[in-house]
Amino acid sequence: MCSLTKADRLLVGGVEVDRAALLRQLDSGRTLPAEWYTDPDLLAREQRSIFAREWQYVGAASRLAQVGSFFTDVVAGVPIVVVRREDAIAAFVNVCPHRGFRVAEGEGFRSTLQCGYHGWTFGLDGRLKGAPRSDRERDFPREEIGLREVRLEAWGPLLFVNLDPDAAGLSETLGGVTDLVRERGFDLSAHPFRARRQWEIRSNWKVALDNNTECYHCATVHPGLRSEYHVDRDNYHVDAFTKSFAHLSPPKRADGPDAADFHLYYLWPNFMISARGADHFYTYRYVPVTAGTTLQVNDYFFPASYTDADLEEAIADIGQIMREDWRVFEGVQEGLASGVFGQGQLLRDEEWLLRQFQRLVVEAVAA
Ligand code: FES
Ligand SMILES: [Fe+2]
Repeated sequence: MCSLTKADRLLVGGVEVDRAALLRQLDSGRTLPAEWYTDPDLLAREQRSIFAREWQYVGAASRLAQVGSFFTDVVAGVPIVVVRREDAIAAFVNVCPHRGFRVAEGEGFRSTLQCGYHGWTFGLDGRLKGAPRSDRERDFPREEIGLREVRLEAWGPLLFVNLDPDAAGLSETLGGVTDLVRERGFDLSAHPFRARRQWEIRSNWKVALDNNTECYHCATVHPGLRSEYHVDRDNYHVDAFTKSFAHLSPPKRADGPDAADFHLYYLWPNFMISARGADHFYTYRYVPVTAGTTLQVNDYFFPASYTDADLEEAIADIGQIMREDWRVFEGVQEGLASGVFGQGQLLRDEEWLLRQFQRLVVEAVAA
């Protein structure tokens, strides 16, 4: 059980967290205690303290082809609708101010958003346009009623929302990653969004992100990757910023026909972009479902020269590395849930980015 009995007291798995002591342990190479991966109350706190306050990727701008195009999502348990209006793309809380039903379902196109319960309609600016029978009401506060707008920013074609009106801009999360991407000629706008796939993984969301901070595991877990790319410490490049990092792995055969760097870009807390060369790229978003399950959502951006069959083949090929990682995630979760693990011991220098990720988690939930 995780609970806060006072503003400065946090219990995880029934154990009171001493924030300063835990941060010292992380600095020394110990990991988060196992209960941090299994406690459902801690996940609820992470939703409030992390996912409701940080920038969350929701989709590609190209899914909104014309004024009135929309898609829906859920961020930190909050239903969201993202819509293209005349002047800009906007995001709203997808909860009707009448009685709380959704004003948009799935994705599609509408000139107004209409709640499916009693038929209230809202303009693309979020304002109430019509409420059946409201004209026969005395003092109906029509002008005051509207959908709550949510902050939305874009990184190239990638749309992010933030539920926290006071959060710093997306550029603060991106840090130096935007410059790196530009310097490497990695153009996010070069390829259209082609497909989305999602899978439920049987592990805590942090197991997935712990893993993605390091390529220490690549030599063991990813034999295909290891045979094509440098995964050793001397040739594998890491650039880290406060809330983001970049990994770059050069090909072993630089003169090969398909020789291209393997890129990975991460944004705190749960988003990544991965690519081999500049031919295509794909995004990851890890969405916590329960303490022990996570939804992995991948968006694939490929050039139009890929037929649908080519695209399916490429997605299946990319999935090889994912499947190799999922096997490890699920095995780690079993170990963490076994009751005998306690805290892990990192290679303090080799796995320093993992320490940085876990530090961000602790600073957010035990603020
Ligand atoms: S809940 Fe939306 S119109 Fe009633
Ligand atoms: Fe991996």
